Amino acid sequence: MKEFAKKSIMFHSKISKILSFTNQTFFSKNIFISSNKLFSSKNDNNNTKSSTSEKDNDSKYGVCPAGCTLHNHKFEASYNRLIEGNQKYVLEKTMNNPNYFKDRAQNQTPKYLLIGCSDSRVPPNEMTMTEPGEIFIHRNIANQVIFSDLNCMSVLQFGIEHLKVQHVIVLGHTKCGGIIASKNKEYKGIIENWLQNIRDIAFMNKEELDKCKTEEDYFKKLTILNVKSQVLNVCKTPYVQKAWANNQKLHVHGWLVDIETGLINDLGVTNKDWNKIKESYEFNFKLI
Ligand code: CO
Repeated sequence: MKEFAKKSIMFHSKISKILSFTNQTFFSKNIFISSNKLFSSKNDNNNTKSSTSEKDNDSKYGVCPAGCTLHNHKFEASYNRLIEGNQKYVLEKTMNNPNYFKDRAQNQTPKYLLIGCSDSRVPPNEMTMTEPGEIFIHRNIANQVIFSDLNCMSVLQFGIEHLKVQHVIVLGHTKCGGIIASKNKEYKGIIENWLQNIRDIAFMNKEELDKCKTEEDYFKKLTILNVKSQVLNVCKTPYVQKAWANNQKLHVHGWLVDIETGLINDLGVTNKDWNKIKESYEFNFKLI
């Protein structure tokens, strides 16, 4: 416990130095060392409503910590807990390894590239217990791989050609809002352009989807079909095919996570499906 308290005090002094250097004294009054808490503040607890009056919040969070003067909004504990959470995170990570961040700042050599959904309930690192630097991540609504999407294509090219990732994973999830919205006929603007791709998958697999007895089954089936389709799209890209032509070690996987259990299921969809469509989509890089 003594060692623990010593480290906490060292961390506190480090944070104070950072705060004084950046002239942001905003958080310093929230940080104090307690004998039985890692890191604490008057507003930092699980029951903010009962412990902090609105008046306290106004005086404490009335000024934007970023110096924004555009509007007179009140900064609430729900916003500031993110920065406080980050300070706890840094403390936890550096407690046993003071160079934790410095080591990672040198470069990144991730073995995995993951394309997931933007859904806030599907955080790739947390769900796979991986550390910063281990997974190169791209996320969008319903984990789409669309060839005209400059963002996704750039991530794939950079990840495969430069970072030399060994695994590309498309991660779909149950109860995906994008999948569910694709069945809704109400027009909601530009998001419909994005969802059109999922509607195409539903249209092309109508016979199989019609066999689903419940709506839940239907959405789960469509989610799996969507993952399979995006896995094939990954395989169709020149970056993947070029890597395979050069005998670069690269596997493409499709996963489904059940957000009610947190468990990931490897759908085992890569090679056999690619072999079926290879003739129509393959580029011959060996001839170039
Ligand atoms: Co989703």
